Amino acid sequence: MPPLRLEHGVSLKPYNTFGLPAVAHTLVRVTSDADVRRMVDHPELGRSAKFILGGGSNIILTRDMPQVVVKVEVPGCRLVRETEDAWVVEAGAGEPWHGFVDWTLRQGWPGLENLALIPGTVGAAPVQNIGAYGVEFKDRFESLDAVDLVTGRSVTLGASICAFGYRDSVFKHALAGRSVITRVRFRLPRPWQPVLGYLELERKRAESGITDPTPRQVFDWVCDIRRSKLPDPGQVGNAGSFFKNPVVSAEQCRDIIGRDPGIVHYPLPDGTVKLAAGWMIDACGWKGKSIGQAGVYEKQALVLVNRGGAIGSEVMTLAQAIQESVYGRFGIRLETEPVVV
Ligand code: EPU
Repeated sequence: MPPLRLEHGVSLKPYNTFGLPAVAHTLVRVTSDADVRRMVDHPELGRSAKFILGGGSNIILTRDMPQVVVKVEVPGCRLVRETEDAWVVEAGAGEPWHGFVDWTLRQGWPGLENLALIPGTVGAAPVQNIGAYGVEFKDRFESLDAVDLVTGRSVTLGASICAFGYRDSVFKHALAGRSVITRVRFRLPRPWQPVLGYLELERKRAESGITDPTPRQVFDWVCDIRRSKLPDPGQVGNAGSFFKNPVVSAEQCRDIIGRDPGIVHYPLPDGTVKLAAGWMIDACGWKGKSIGQAGVYEKQALVLVNRGGAIGSEVMTLAQAIQESVYGRFGIRLETEPVVV
């Protein structure tokens, strides 16, 4: 087996979708569990702190990285098993998410179409429990393989240990920097049923006049909706939604509605209410505004963008200014969604 290749002084600009400048002192690419184990046993790397990098679509880099940056590039997609009520499909953590979703549809194994076009890798999807248009990663999750960065042991983890929440999991907390996800398995229920409850998807369906869409049609509608309001990171640097949608008590929501009757809100099954952070930021007048080269996207105020050559501190200055004005008007502290490093 070839030795692990250590790269030093590596620019991370091409490896984060916001296009922020930062340098990794050391970067190691891992393509298998064995690579991760060799890193754990390595005399120089074994004890060093690690930062695990997937597609770089959910990080804001504000400084150079003294930790060892572990770039996860585990490849491969396969059908694990097919039963009467599900297809179980597996993908290497380094596979690009959208390509994997497209591949499952081409194979005739639908169920991930609502999550089309989300940037990033398969291995990053569980970290923040990606979600869009009525489906969350956890709704299709079966299990994942990970290697412990201290013991070098491979483990298979199920949903309860992963502790998925809204844009959250154990990999953002107790297992942050501790565990490298190498493979993820999905359970895609049979028979397939479209999830069309999200207002904009329902609107697309109504416009098309189609009553029984195919998975590919739903996939295309999701791609159209995303392209119409979210910037393509290949063209404009961004990390998707910059803040989480805050969840408040029914009483707090009534209070806010009293002052701002137009606020977009969604009652949740447990009696709490989710508020649309994008609406609040928009209402504070931020859409299209900039601080330095960091800006608020013109078509979706929840997305911050790189107008060209932005640095991490500019992005965070803009984010703080937004947080302050939303707090000033609504009394709510917005939490950032990407990991700020
Ligand atoms: N809105 C405004 N002005 C804005 C932005 C939004 O008024 O500038 C209003 C919209 O009109 C809509 C509501 O706010 O009524 C919600 O907006 P949208 O449907 O665009 O969804 P979101 O809540 O902003 C969330 C996810 C997205 C996901 C979409 C669709 C979070 C933090 N974001 O956005 O996920 O694609 O729903 O399901 O939950 C991501 O996590 O990076 C991401 C893009």
